This record gives sequence, C-alpha cells and structure tokens, in this order.
Amino acid sequence: MKRTHHCAQLTPSDIGSAVSLSGWVDSVRDHGGIIFIDLRDRKGVTQVKFDPHGTPELSARAAHLKPESVVSVAGTVVPRPDGTVNAALPTGAIEIEATELDILNVSETPPFPLTDAGGDKVNEDLRLTYRYLDLRRPKMRHNLVVRHRAAKAIRDYFDSQDFIEVETPALFKSTPEGAREYLVPSRIHAGQFYALSQSPQQFKQILMVAGVERYFQIARCFRDEDLRADRQMEFTQVDVEASFVTREDLYALFEGMLKKVWKDVLGKDIPTPFPRMAFVDAMNRYGVDKPDTRFGFELKDLSETFRASAFKVFQGTVASGGSVKALNAKGLADLTQGELKALEEIAKSLGAKGLAFIKVEGGEWKSPIVKFLSEAEKAALTSSLGIEDNDMVFFAAAPWEKTCAILGRIRLEVASLLQKRGKLSIRADDWKFLWVVDFPLMSYDEDKKSYVATHHPFTSPVPEDVALIDSDPKAVRGQHYDVVLNGMELGGGSIRIHQPALQKKIFEEVLKIPADVVENRFGYMLRAFTYGAPPHGGIAFGLDRIAALLCGTTSIRDVIAFPKTQKGQDLMAGSPTPVTAKQLAELHIAVVEPQVPLA
Ligand code: AMO
Ligand code: AMP
Repeated sequence: MKRTHHCAQLTPSDIGSAVSLSGWVDSVRDHGGIIFIDLRDRKGVTQVKFDPHGTPELSARAAHLKPESVVSVAGTVVPRPDGTVNAALPTGAIEIEATELDILNVSETPPFPLTDAGGDKVNEDLRLTYRYLDLRRPKMRHNLVVRHRAAKAIRDYFDSQDFIEVETPALFKSTPEGAREYLVPSRIHAGQFYALSQSPQQFKQILMVAGVERYFQIARCFRDEDLRADRQMEFTQVDVEASFVTREDLYALFEGMLKKVWKDVLGKDIPTPFPRMAFVDAMNRYGVDKPDTRFGFELKDLSETFRASAFKVFQGTVASGGSVKALNAKGLADLTQGELKALEEIAKSLGAKGLAFIKVEGGEWKSPIVKFLSEAEKAALTSSLGIEDNDMVFFAAAPWEKTCAILGRIRLEVASLLQKRGKLSIRADDWKFLWVVDFPLMSYDEDKKSYVATHHPFTSPVPEDVALIDSDPKAVRGQHYDVVLNGMELGGGSIRIHQPALQKKIFEEVLKIPADVVENRFGYMLRAFTYGAPPHGGIAFGLDRIAALLCGTTSIRDVIAFPKTQKGQDLMAGSPTPVTAKQLAELHIAVVEPQVPLA
C-alpha cells in the first residue's frame, strides 16, 4: 500500500480525499464498538476510525491490534464530530474513515511506555537495552533531528566561509594527549599497535602545512576516560583549523558558527561578540574555568581579612600561601542538616578539610566558627558578602586552586538547592556564552614533578611571553581559549606553535619529554614544520554537547543514538565481549586474567 501522506499532514483542506498512511499503532481505543487507533510515524499522529456498521470485518481486526504493531491504512479524510476536535494536534480536526487495513507486523508489548513521560520514568539502562524503542519516543526523535540540523548548519556555515571538510584517520599512532588512548593491535605487525585518534589535532596541523588553509571536519574521537553525563568514550568534535589568522579572527569566525546554529535550529538570535573572561577571574569569581554565569553567588576572596585572624584554620592557610574564600548563598538559611552534611561530603571529596559556614537566622550568626571571629572580621564579612538575615555563607581555606574548586562546586549545589525551593530560576534557554581566555601555557603537576601543558603541547605562547619560558614558566600565557555555555565547556582551541625549534623546546625542555620519545612520537611533525609551516590556529567544539544544550538536556547520552553506559557498555548489542582464542592468536595477543576482579 503506497503512502500518500505522513501522519502529521492532513488538515480540513483534505476532507473528502482518499488517502493511505503507514506507521505504528500508538494506541487503540474502543468507543462502544467503534475502534479508534492513533497511527504514528516519525512526523506525528493521525486518528483512524473503524466503524463496525460500515466495515465490520475491518473493525474486528482493528480491535485486536497491539500497540507498536506496524500497519497500513487506507480510507477517506472526514471532519471530526463537533466537540471531539483536538486543537493540540496538527491533524486534530480530521480523522480517517478506514476502508482498508494491512497489518504488516505485530509487536510484542514494549517493556516500557513509549511516551516522553513513560520513558523518563524508567531506568536509563532499560531504555538503552531497547534503544530502538526509546528512539521512537517523540522527545528522542526530536533530539536526533536537532542534532542533524545543528550538523547541517555547521557544514553550511563553514562551506560559506570557504572551508573544506577533510577526513582524517581514526587509526592513528600512540601519542598520549592527556586522556588514555584506545589501542588497536596490528595483525600484520606483531606486537605493534595503532591508537584510536583522540582528536584530529596533529592531522589538522599537518593539513595546514599541506596548504589546505581552511579545514573543518565533523570528526569522531575516542578517549578512554571515566564517563560522565557530558563525556563519552566515543564522541564527535566539530574540528576546525585555519592558516594566517589571529585569535580575534577566530573568535569572530566561531561566534558566527554558533550564531548560525542557534538561529537555524532554534530560531534564536544570540548576541555577539561573546563576553571574555580571563582564566584567573573565572576561577576567582566562579571557582571553575567554565563558569555558569546565569546566576550570581560569586566567590569573594577573604585572605586579607583573615591574615592575622584568631581562627587558626584560616590564618594558617593564608600564612602558608593559600586562600580563604567564601560565598553567600542568599536565602538558604533553611538548609536541612542532611543537605548540609551532603555539601560537606562534596567539599571533602574535593580535598577540603571542612566546610565552615555561617547561618544567619533571626539576626543571629549560627556557626561553629563565629566564636573565633573579631568584630572587625564580622564587619568585613558583612560588607564584602552583603550578609543579611536568612543567608547561608560557606567558607573554604586551602591552596588557591583547591579553594576555588571547592567553592565552585558548592556554588553549583547551592544554586540547585535554591532552585528546588523556588528561590532561584535558572532557565535552560538563557544562553550565556562566554570566552575564557588568558590561560597559563603550562601548570606544574605536583604528582609528575614537572610542567604539563594546560591545553596541549601544540599551543603557542603569547609572543611577548616567549622570553619567560626558561626563567618563569608559570607566568607564560598561552594563546588558548575555551568557549563556555551555561557552565559547560563547548569547545577549546588555540593559536599553535608553527616554528619547529620552539615546538622542540617545549617538548624537550619544558615538558621534559626525552629527545628519543619526542622523535618517536612527534618527529614527523617537527620535520613537516621545517618545510614551510604557516602560522595557524583552530578549535574543536563538542558536537554532542552543543546538541545536548540545544535540546535542553545536560546528558549527551540523550543526543547520541547509541551511547555507552557510564560503565562503557553497549547494553543493546552487548559490548564489550570476550573474543575467541583464534582471534587473539591472529593479533598476537594473550589475555592475562586480572588478579583482582576489576570493579
Ligand atoms: P579538547 O580536548 O578540549 O580539545 O576537546 C574539544 C571539545 O571536545 C569535547 N569533548 C568531549 N565531548 C564528549 N565526550 C568527551 N569525552 C569529550 N572530550 C572532549 C568538549 C571539548 O571542549 N584538539 C583539541 C582542540 C584544538 O586545540 O583545536 C581538543 O581536542 O566539548
Ligand atoms: P574546627 O575548629 O577544625 O572544628 O573547624 C571549625 C569549622 O571550620 C568546621 O565547621 C570545619 O568544617 C571548618 N573547617 C575546618 N577546616 C576548614 C577549611 N580548611 N576550610 C573551610 N572550613 C574548614
């Protein structure tokens, strides 16, 4: 039976037409012998009526249809009787009077209701096991469409800006970039391995040496890292690189891309240029390098206030070079004991020794530390934090970075507690884009006892800071930028090093990678740079994250058709799995059973 229309198409102007529709049985209702089915396809729903007076045999079959069965229906478009029009549906003013019914496939009863609300209530593992059913839900179908629209807007945009899409290999070589790599054994070269590409970083730089000048790619990347709501082992980057550009050129280019995506997909005009914030300010004010600026509760530095305090915890922290910071959770004095305990646990999981607080109720400061505070300190707190009745103030005292991280996290928790109480409104569609800039080129890793690249080792220092590389590495600023939206890092990039001598110096003298390892991993790149490498820079956006925010979710699993679980499993097909001894032998691999079962 040929389809004449889709299921969201027919309106009163089609009344009297003979039509045929195909799709899934969304629901079956028996109204005193008259059978109604809602027929659904990827576009929507149309009501079909089987009247036992006209077509008794058809109605009897329709009455036994099981939901999610696949059918084709032919009939005539008729108006719905007065009082039964459904204004919420595009097809709500009509129905089909069925004259034919073809049952193409009968469905088992699905393990969960395939409505938006029904699916949201069940465990995500169940949805992932039956992903083909989960994806039938309107919301999930919508998410796939949004992702497609975003990818299309991106391709159109870069095409219009004279960029070309070039594919680069997924099978690359092991050059650890930060995250752990996935290794792929070579059958032909016993004992040798490919690594799955963590990003096309090195290839896109080589493409600049190759004279491509303006490259982009919607590229699959692989990283063996702990999975979270915004992280998958296999994810998609919008990867971009251009030659002969400055940071300013790139900011404008990338803002243009995001503007087009938001316009094409959501019809929203996002203002550009985006505000910019230095990394140090982001940390000091929001406690993270990806601040959610939709709400306040900024951190205040109180190190000077407590430099000579009688409260030894704070005074000692400052004396040893650390920072004391606080944030005022306005109106959160009704925090319960349980909520306070939970916040303390979170702070401790980030390395806090405690989470001092002041609860202001009935004009009184209720706090385990108030007895240590002088009148001058109290006055300083009141003025810098704007303390009023019903406020709840939290303190952290630790080395600067840790203090920021602790309170940065507490700030997010506090916002969510206030939201639950209806005292704060944070809207998913309040788009607060932001560039975070002026990152240090490298930071000192206490565990490794060496410097590590803040972004990656290919990021160029700010030219006027190159002289500081030997004398004061920490002070060298990198030409790195991150684009942040509502507390999520959407993308990061930089102007790159294009001079082979400087790149070699960063590898060997700053990052202390032994010369033979540098040659082995990056020798080809350093060689390429000796043949006329143009100055260049770029970025990679997380397409999954862009799609998630466009869909109003923070879990990228909701915008990936077949994501892995938090434990890295595909519950539908069932992976990973053991393989046969023969397969392993071909790959020259022997499996050593773990002594202690892995968690
Ligand atoms: P970076 O490592 O910052 O930079 O990655 C760029 C963007 O990719 C997204 N992303 C992820 N999304 C989902 N799951 C993951 N596991 C994951 N890891 C990263 C984030 C992030 O901002 N080559 C550089 C880019 C460059 O310098 O041009 C790079 O890969 O949105
Ligand atoms: P104490 O005198 O150690 O009992 O600490 C008094 C209060 O300060 C308690 O509420 C602790 O949770 C808190 N506290 C202790 N150390 C720190 C710290 N480094 N940062 C913030 N609060 C702390």
